[in-house]
Amino acid sequence: MTQTGSRISRRAVLAGSGVVAIGAGTAAFLGAGTRRLVGAKAGKNELVLEAGKTRASLLGERLPKVPVWGYNGLVPGPEIRVRQGQPFKTLLKNNLGEGTTIHWHGLRVPNAMDGVPHLTQDPVEPGQAFLYEFTPADAGTFWYHPHQRSFEQVGRGLYGALIVEEADPPRVDRDITWVLDDWRMSDNGQISGGFGSPHDAMMAGRIGNTITINAKPPMPLEVRPNERIRLRLVTAANARIFGLDFSDIEPVVIALDGQPVEPHTPSGPLLLGPAMRVDLILDFTKASAARHEIRDVFYSGLEYRLNEFVYAGTPMRSAPLQNGVSLSPNPLAEPNLANSDRHEIRFGGGMMGMMSGRKSGSGMMPGRMGGSSMMSGGMMSGGMMGWTVNGVSATGHVHDPIITARQGRTLVFDMINDTAWWHPIHLHGHSFRVLSRNRNPTQYREWQDTVLMSPQERVEIAFVADNPGDWMFHCHILEHQAAGMMATIRVN
Ligand code: C2O
Ligand code: CU
Repeated sequence: MTQTGSRISRRAVLAGSGVVAIGAGTAAFLGAGTRRLVGAKAGKNELVLEAGKTRASLLGERLPKVPVWGYNGLVPGPEIRVRQGQPFKTLLKNNLGEGTTIHWHGLRVPNAMDGVPHLTQDPVEPGQAFLYEFTPADAGTFWYHPHQRSFEQVGRGLYGALIVEEADPPRVDRDITWVLDDWRMSDNGQISGGFGSPHDAMMAGRIGNTITINAKPPMPLEVRPNERIRLRLVTAANARIFGLDFSDIEPVVIALDGQPVEPHTPSGPLLLGPAMRVDLILDFTKASAARHEIRDVFYSGLEYRLNEFVYAGTPMRSAPLQNGVSLSPNPLAEPNLANSDRHEIRFGGGMMGMMSGRKSGSGMMPGRMGGSSMMSGGMMSGGMMGWTVNGVSATGHVHDPIITARQGRTLVFDMINDTAWWHPIHLHGHSFRVLSRNRNPTQYREWQDTVLMSPQERVEIAFVADNPGDWMFHCHILEHQAAGMMATIRVN
């Protein structure tokens, strides 16, 4: 291990991620105005994440690399591995042509470290730097991404996985991270422009036509008979929802959005909206030369094979591992439902009427999108349409809070999706329990930071407002967020 090895994965180091401990050279990088930024001082052994333009093999090694934006020249950015409860420091350097920030999605960080431009910090302008510093309270699978013009910055590749390792993880043979994304590529092999177009914004968001795993075309994963793998899935797509069918393997879900959940096998496709994560335990119990497909069946009529596992080599052992896979809970405060403040929150807007909408929770999106009749409705009149939270379509990042809570109170949000679209709803600074869907109690009362709501669905969540500050609460379809589906929750 190098000195930075405790902070970044060995894999990232070996891949030549360009992660370096920074020293004297850094001062020259910090431009005028840097002093206004909190703590933008370089220290030794800090991870540096440099946002800038680079190229990636999105289309495979045989085709020319595609211009993208990445961290340290990589997409995804380096997989950061830290230990639970150990201080973490990262210096963000901005080499883009526009301001940026890093948001540590799902991590319960102090407000000033949350990376929301104008709300929690000034944007980091080109040539500037910003030091992020916090101690992860929770172990789990998280990710990082900009919060400034994220529909384009994330859409062009600025994201990476952040794994907070448990002190005592379940025994597995391999621990693998797949960051899923889709890209809208044009015929000339470039990323199409048109980020944030009103058409995308008012419908399903920017859905791409090229699927990648860790920013490469999916490649079959070789597994050995009786091998056990922990697979961490992170969805970095702007808007695409995945509904994963693992055919004849029974994936065991052990964590959702980084938070441990009672180990279980989902009864249908595994639904993952933008920004959501799941940790799976996979036992490969077949013999050499067998294979398993993973299919994405979310959009009906558009199902495809995401990837496959192919058995190769000698058995790992004579029988599958039998040890338990449950994770120790993270130190989250338990909501006190008997003494809580209840708030109704309604999500509205978007194009109405053209979605036949299967039953909530079926995991399927109604078929075709598009068609000119959609654009002729009254909602287009009067210019910009917006998405709304409690009737307000927000702009920018700083808003009057829709809810102000005293620190330590339990809040219950009774959330109603009054739209014809799916929305992954994300709260910053906290994880919440999902209590019910359409008034049916959830089986696992899972902790999440992003909950996927189907059209017209009603979802109740609860959490202790224990992290002071102004926190964003928004749809993680990044085009919906930019078109108003966001709000601020204040804890003081
Ligand atoms: Cu993943 Cu407000 O963000
Ligand atoms: Cu949305």
